[in-house]
Amino acid sequence: MVEQVQIFDTTLRDGEQVPGCGLSPQRKLEIAKRLEALGVDIIEAGFPISSPGDFEAVRLLSSEIKNSTICALSRAVKADIECAARALEGAAKARIHTGIGTSDQHVQTKLRMSREEVVRRAVEAVSYARTFVDDVEFYAEDAGRTPNDFLAHIVEKAIEAGATVVNIPDTTGFCLPEEYGAKIKYLKDHVPNIEKAIISSHCHNDLGLATANSIASLRNGARQIECTINGIGERAGNTSLEEVVMILKKHPELNLETRINTQELFPISRLVAERMNMPVQSNKAVVGANAFSHSSGIHQDGVIKNRENYEIIDPYEVGVNKSSIILTARSGRAALNFRLGEIGIKLSKEELESVYGKFVVLADQKHTIEDEDLRQIMVSEPHFQK
Ligand code: KIV
Ligand code: ZN
Repeated sequence: MVEQVQIFDTTLRDGEQVPGCGLSPQRKLEIAKRLEALGVDIIEAGFPISSPGDFEAVRLLSSEIKNSTICALSRAVKADIECAARALEGAAKARIHTGIGTSDQHVQTKLRMSREEVVRRAVEAVSYARTFVDDVEFYAEDAGRTPNDFLAHIVEKAIEAGATVVNIPDTTGFCLPEEYGAKIKYLKDHVPNIEKAIISSHCHNDLGLATANSIASLRNGARQIECTINGIGERAGNTSLEEVVMILKKHPELNLETRINTQELFPISRLVAERMNMPVQSNKAVVGANAFSHSSGIHQDGVIKNRENYEIIDPYEVGVNKSSIILTARSGRAALNFRLGEIGIKLSKEELESVYGKFVVLADQKHTIEDEDLRQIMVSEPHFQK
């Protein structure tokens, strides 16, 4: 049976924490409306106690967004939880996300508390948040480096206190996929009340493993993925929403699906990149400028014959108009002929041979050959001038 995976987007919270990515409440609303249209289940709108602007953003999104749950972040601190609850008052579906560090590193050198004290604070925070909303997510910060037995203990207590979702963040992006998957399985096997909550994964990309770790978590029982558009987020970023969604779509054997309307992926990627001043790297999976571009002769010939020779995603599926054939010095005659055809120039075999000779000389001097360059080459061709 195919099971649903909840997509929890934190572009407007973890993504927005990045220096230079700050957004006004109105800008957050603009992106949130597109996230809602994309089909995101939960939008983490901000951290209301952090600033009046972020409080206003969460309040605004709560009053305007009706189809996605609006989530507000808090520490395990009463004032944070009260502030989050006030900001969420107008929401049709509200969630408070509260939690505390659980790794020895965080417990000893950041919180400077005993483990017992950490558990007590977690339980108090979850129970207090439940007095405001029915949907409370508990995060065990730095769960990636937290010993599994202590993690299981605090997760059990958080669920007992009323947590509906338990978030197991790999805050520092430390875990290997097998290790992170095993951590989720450990919780499934050792937390007696685990069936009362959804397990969520929240992975960071410090070692480039955020997406792999998120998929490993799903294979071991997590049913919510925390992610961002274009993978933006603290340091090396968070799990990229578009990657997880397309992996589940391309691998039906996993029996997992999301509600994401994938044709919105490319447009929202461009919007977020522009509004958050964070250009997308050209070779980024799914949404990078080169994700559907082909430039070497062998690949171009294969794609012209049948797109699926070199593409596992149909560009239309993610909102990209079409695959592009980029002309470079590595391109062959098939690609050149294809592009000439696209600008209305049909050549015989001999004519193509002559044009190809001029094309490769120019292509060695320029990175890419544009339509205008092709027209210039054609002007110098005797048969074309006739
Ligand atoms: O990375 C992290 O641990 C977080 C938590 C606040 C959920 O972003
Ligand atoms: Zn995070």
